[in-house]
Amino acid sequence: MSTVDPYEKKIVMITGAVLSLFIFSILYARNRNNDLPECLPFNKAYLDAKIARLDEKTYQVYAVAQMWQFQPALIEVPVGSEVDFFLTSRDVVHGFNISEKNVNMMAIYGNINKATVKFEKAGIYKITCHEYCGVGHQNMQAEVIVNESPKN
Ligand code: CUA
Repeated sequence: MSTVDPYEKKIVMITGAVLSLFIFSILYARNRNNDLPECLPFNKAYLDAKIARLDEKTYQVYAVAQMWQFQPALIEVPVGSEVDFFLTSRDVVHGFNISEKNVNMMAIYGNINKATVKFEKAGIYKITCHEYCGVGHQNMQAEVIVNESPKN
């Protein structure tokens, strides 16, 4: 008859507990609304920069980065809007950071990144390129202007 060393038994139990915690964390996080960007299949339609208004408080922004600008450079939405940002690049890799919004995406040619942002507070939210992309990198900016009342 084999016996298990008490020390070994303790190690097995601790390992089991840590593993259970790890699996529980993954299952728990899976069902949370986390703000990770999604990666979508590439389609050339995304290279046409535009702002689409789906309804009063729902917008889609097709954002295109290229040396050294973002298009559209100015995005205006009413307060409380939910905006889907679809992002791609026409040339090199650029960054896409929206201040105060925990959005940090990469703009890559042949690739579409998507993040959804809700703008609960009126104000000006700066979009900056945070990936060095050449001599004009520091000038690469855009703005989201969130207006207090809906536009007519
Ligand atoms: Cu684009 Cu730095």
